[in-house]
Amino acid sequence: MSEQLTVEQLEEQAAKLSPQEQLKLVAHISERLSSIPLAQVEDTEHERREIPVFCYHSRLASVGMCRMCLVRVATPKLGPDRKPVLKADGTPELAWMPRVQTACTTVASEGMAIDSLSQEVLDARRGIVEFLLTSHPLDCPICDKGGECPLQEQTLTYGPGASRFYYSDKFLNEKDVPLGPLIVLDRERCVQCARCIRFQDEIADDHVLGFNDRGRGMEIISFSNPPFNSKFSGNTTDICPVGALTTTDFRFQARPWEMKYVPSVCPHCAVGCNLALSVRNNANIKRVLPRENDAVNDIWLCDKGRFGHQFADDSANRLTTPLIRRDGQLVEATWAEALALVAQKFGAAKAKDPNSIAGLAGDRAPNEDLYLFGKFFREVLGSQNYRSTVEADDLNASVGLSADSDISQ
Ligand code: SF4
Ligand code: SF4
Ligand code: FES
Repeated sequence: MSEQLTVEQLEEQAAKLSPQEQLKLVAHISERLSSIPLAQVEDTEHERREIPVFCYHSRLASVGMCRMCLVRVATPKLGPDRKPVLKADGTPELAWMPRVQTACTTVASEGMAIDSLSQEVLDARRGIVEFLLTSHPLDCPICDKGGECPLQEQTLTYGPGASRFYYSDKFLNEKDVPLGPLIVLDRERCVQCARCIRFQDEIADDHVLGFNDRGRGMEIISFSNPPFNSKFSGNTTDICPVGALTTTDFRFQARPWEMKYVPSVCPHCAVGCNLALSVRNNANIKRVLPRENDAVNDIWLCDKGRFGHQFADDSANRLTTPLIRRDGQLVEATWAEALALVAQKFGAAKAKDPNSIAGLAGDRAPNEDLYLFGKFFREVLGSQNYRSTVEADDLNASVGLSADSDISQ
């Protein structure tokens, strides 16, 4: 929990600090930070005090919709000569704005001071959380976001503890609304932050989501045909700050703390997006999440990489030992036996005609293996006949998409 200080206590504390510390957040703000929102300053400098957010996201434009990031903001008071007015002790006099401001839409500037923990700020945050929860179901025990939910965490940290609103006044909204073939919306959990809409507009450039209606009835809808027609729809479930958006793939499958996160690389195309497999009981891949790599996939993943993982769960059909055909039957063999047989057959075929040898690589081998496969055929066997391709229809069938979907293009 944050310290609960009154403005007077805060000012008393501030008086004991050096002029730079006194200016709190951005007294020594650098050129690099001077044109970015305050919420991002917090992101960048972890040792600073947290400013809680819901709608703000460092990869999206700031919109100031949720009001969770309210802070008090002051700038140095300027004299007639446009220079900062100094107090008797040489520190700059501050002009505090009369009301709390949204940190995510306030651009940091030289000498700006931010109060992120006075009573006024804490009261404002508490009010926002209480307001966000007026019609929220708080069904955390059955919510897939439970355990990794910013609303859950911030309710605990900044919320009022008890609501003044009656449970019977809650505006009950629809649950389990399919937004598209892969994404399900729980309308009463939505905090109307528009992260999902902005992701689709700004990052995916597929303008398929929007708000419908107003006030408590405001809801996320998809207006494309087929619905939520985007190859990147799964990313909205990662950045939704609540459990309003879930994937058909992961819904009710596991709790976040039960899973191990195994770093991997997507095998579905040459981009090689970095990902983390969420594995339960060391056995089943429950979901695939993007793993941040600014040089490759940033923090995003396409739906093919996210949802096309069932093939890896098919352990019953996975080869665990080499098989050699003897008398028309496939029988288990050692690696030494299998490799000796392959070398002997390849050698004989190459001596006759290298191009009589052809290779079909598994279409889910990683880039590095495919490169070596091609090199082996070209340079060792002298054959140009090798091939690998991802079969789109297989993938569509495995993740349960309709023929209309263009996920595999
Ligand atoms: S969205 Fe968060 S706070 Fe709401 S029910 Fe789910 S886990 Fe709980
Ligand atoms: S569905 Fe999630 S991301 Fe979209 S507006 Fe609602 S809370 Fe925000
Ligand atoms: S995070 Fe600033 S208004 Fe939502």
